[in-house]
Amino acid sequence: MDKIGKILNGVDIMIQKPKGTYDLFGENAEKVIYLKKIIEALMDKYNYKYFETPIFETSELFHRGVGETTDIVNKETYDFKDRGDRNLTLRPEGTAGIVRSFIENKLYTLSMPVKAWYFGPMFRYERPQAGRYREFRQFGVEAFGSNDPMMDAEVISIIVNFFKLLGLKGIKVNINSLGDKESRENYRTALLDYFKPYINDLCEDCRNRYEKNPLRILDCKVDSDKDIMKNAPKLTDYLNEESKEHLARVKTYLDSMNIDYVVNPGIVRGLDYYTHTVFEVEANIKGFGSQNVLGAGGRYNHLVENIGGPSVPGVGFAIGIERLMLALEAENINLTEEKNIDVYAFSQGLNDNSYLMNIVNMIRLNGFNVEMDYLNRNMKNNFKKADKLKAKYIIIIGSTEVENNILTVKNNETLEEFKIKKEEIIDFLDSKLGDINEN
Ligand code: HAM
Repeated sequence: MDKIGKILNGVDIMIQKPKGTYDLFGENAEKVIYLKKIIEALMDKYNYKYFETPIFETSELFHRGVGETTDIVNKETYDFKDRGDRNLTLRPEGTAGIVRSFIENKLYTLSMPVKAWYFGPMFRYERPQAGRYREFRQFGVEAFGSNDPMMDAEVISIIVNFFKLLGLKGIKVNINSLGDKESRENYRTALLDYFKPYINDLCEDCRNRYEKNPLRILDCKVDSDKDIMKNAPKLTDYLNEESKEHLARVKTYLDSMNIDYVVNPGIVRGLDYYTHTVFEVEANIKGFGSQNVLGAGGRYNHLVENIGGPSVPGVGFAIGIERLMLALEAENINLTEEKNIDVYAFSQGLNDNSYLMNIVNMIRLNGFNVEMDYLNRNMKNNFKKADKLKAKYIIIIGSTEVENNILTVKNNETLEEFKIKKEEIIDFLDSKLGDINEN
């Protein structure tokens, strides 16, 4: 790792990025830009609208939204007080913020459904490893206002079609139902009865979960291998008719779109807000461990209400962008577009580059991409640079060009040379490059 620092009074001061974060630049930055473009176009097809909410929110939002007893809120949030003594939290996920925004901006008064998408950084204090960061990016959607299983199926279809569009294979969709309030209540009672005799065998966190939210005992990482966990009652056995019917319809709709999935009763999700459908989409990549879940989500019929809004159902998902990029890499899918420079321009022997700046500015404004020499390179090095950039045309400006209001233009492939009047350069480039650039 590079050291950025200096020796101050004999002490080596290093400034490095915080643990679990990374710098986005170069090829990876290109990939993220490219992914965003694909996502934008995809979201247009489904008529989802772009949202941006603050990166920090009142801590209370996540306590009420994500859940007091979840690992995310209990152990993973970045909490801080601002200078006005307010309790704030860097968002660990996007759903709670979108729901807050939906309520605060009274979007429930609009014609339903309201379909939102977002893309941005999230923060969780987790142990960093491949595919797990403390700052990571999510692309997510949230659809409000419909109880219909069509909406659950549409949301799942977006993930699947997005991955299909990228050419990602080896994808597995796991779905499950957490049931409605009544089913959950019956299940909760069953869990309390079941774990009661074993309470002293559970870890301290689980004993706390037993009191507050027994469902969370099931995603405990400490006790997960114990037989008492494996033999615990299954939520699927406690679903009421309505919940079973909802899941059955989601399955029918997924079938109608030819989307493969498996019903996996083990999917419980680490956030408290879910009701009915939950799902996780995995990539089957060696060495990924639990980081192979690329995206996940589900239905949350009471979250809007719990955060202080009216009773409006919602369903959504989020995909981890870093994990997605690792999965694409593992399948050798290259996302970067080859970007060629149209024109490379430079001057020779001039003290004042106003004429060059004027021309480059005009060409860029007319839709061509132009790079130029800022380092006073000699002729040979400028040609080398133009080759490296794969520039299609080279513009050379010397005192003769400035005096006569002309340009020397070279085709960088054929080396054919043209003398062009300044006012004719756009027509010239249009005639030579217009068709190529439109393809
Ligand atoms: P989540 O399962 O906590 O759900 O996160 C969704 C995805 O974000 C994960 O599947 C993973 O790809 C990525 N992710 C999570 N934590 C990390 C991390 N530390 N490093 C890298 N990637 C990570 C949610 O966040 C819900 N808000 C999803 C949702 C939307 N449910 C309904 N609507």
